[in-house]
Amino acid sequence: MVVLGIETSCDETSAALVADGRRGLVDIVASQADLHARWGGVVPEVASRMHVERVLPVVQEAMEKAKITSAEIDGIAVTNRPGLIGALVVGVAAAKALALAWNRPLVGVHHLIGHIYACYLAEPRLVPPFVCLIVSGGHTELIYVDRTGECTVLGRTRDDAAGECLDKCARMLDLPYPGGAHLERLAEQGDPQRVPLPRAWLEGSADFSFSGLKTAVARYLRQNTHEIRREDVAAALQGAVVDVLVEKTVAAARSVGVEAIGIGGGVAANRTLSRAMADAALAVGIRCITPLPPLCTDNASMIAAAGYDRLIRGEDDGLGLDAAASAPLPRASSVEGT
Ligand code: KG4
Ligand code: ZN
Repeated sequence: MVVLGIETSCDETSAALVADGRRGLVDIVASQADLHARWGGVVPEVASRMHVERVLPVVQEAMEKAKITSAEIDGIAVTNRPGLIGALVVGVAAAKALALAWNRPLVGVHHLIGHIYACYLAEPRLVPPFVCLIVSGGHTELIYVDRTGECTVLGRTRDDAAGECLDKCARMLDLPYPGGAHLERLAEQGDPQRVPLPRAWLEGSADFSFSGLKTAVARYLRQNTHEIRREDVAAALQGAVVDVLVEKTVAAARSVGVEAIGIGGGVAANRTLSRAMADAALAVGIRCITPLPPLCTDNASMIAAAGYDRLIRGEDDGLGLDAAASAPLPRASSVEGT
C-alpha cells in the first residue's frame, strides 16, 4: 500500500510517499525558515500563504521523483492537529481535494503521533511498548506507547518547549532563527563547565520546565557583559537541556519497564542529545532509536507512516475531516510496571 503524506502544521510544506507504512520512497520539504528568520519566529499568516503556494507543487514533485502516478496511490494522510490553524487547514483542504479527485480514503494524523512514527521508519522492527521523547520548537512530551500502540503522556513541559528555550537563548546570543542547529555548532567550541546554569528536575514528576533556564541565560548575559564567551554559554545551555531530557526520559523508561526509547522532533537532531540518550539508555540495558535529522524535523513521511496504520484497517475520515489548533494527548493514568 502506497500512502501520500502531507504536512503543513507549522513552517514546512512537505509531501511524501511511503510504501507499506515503513519504507520511505520520497520526501519533499519546502522550508520557510529563511522567510520567517527576519521576524525571529514563525509568522502564522505568512506561513499559511506560503503553504497555499507550495502544497500542490511539493505533492507533484514527490510523485515525479518517485515515478508514482495517482493510480498507484492507495490513500492519503494529512496532519490535521495540533498546529497553526491557518497552516493546518491548507494541508487538510489540499488532501481533501486530492482524495475527492482520486477517489481515495483520507485520514487525519496527530502531529505528535507522526513524530513517534519517525521511529518506526528509522527502525522498522521496532515494536511497542516503548517510551518516546518528542522535543521540538512547540513540544516537549514524554509519551508511553503501550503494546497496542496507544499513546499516553507520562510528562510534558509546564512552560517553554525545549526547542523554544534553545531558540530564544540563541537569539540572545545573536544567532539566526531557528537557533537550535546554530547553537549546536557554537557549543562544539565551548566549555559547558564555565557557565553555571540551573536544571529544573521537578522531582517526583516526569514533567519538564525550561523557562527558568531561559531566564538564567538572560541574567548571565546581562551581568557578565565584558567576559562573555558565547561558545561557553551555548555549551552550558545545551548541556543543561540535554542533562534533564536524558535523565528524566531514562528514569521514565525504567519506571514503566520498557526495553526501548525513541526520540523525535527537531531537537532530537542534536547529536549531543542523541549520543547522551543512547549512552545513558545502554548503561541500563535499554536501546535508543534516533531517526536521522530529516526524520526528526517536520516531514510528511512520518505522517504517511502513521496514516498507514489507520488506512490498512479500512478507516476513512472522508471529506468531513476537520483541523484543530490544540489537541493534547491524554495523560497516562496508570501504566503497567509502575
Ligand atoms: O520538529 P520541528 O522541526 O518543528 C516543530 O514542530 O517545532 O522542530 C524545530 C525545533 C526548533 O526549535 C529548532 O531550533 C530545533 O528544533 N532544532 C535543533 C536542532 N535542529 C533543529 N535543536 C538543537 N539542535 C539541533 N541540531
Ligand atoms: Zn514537529
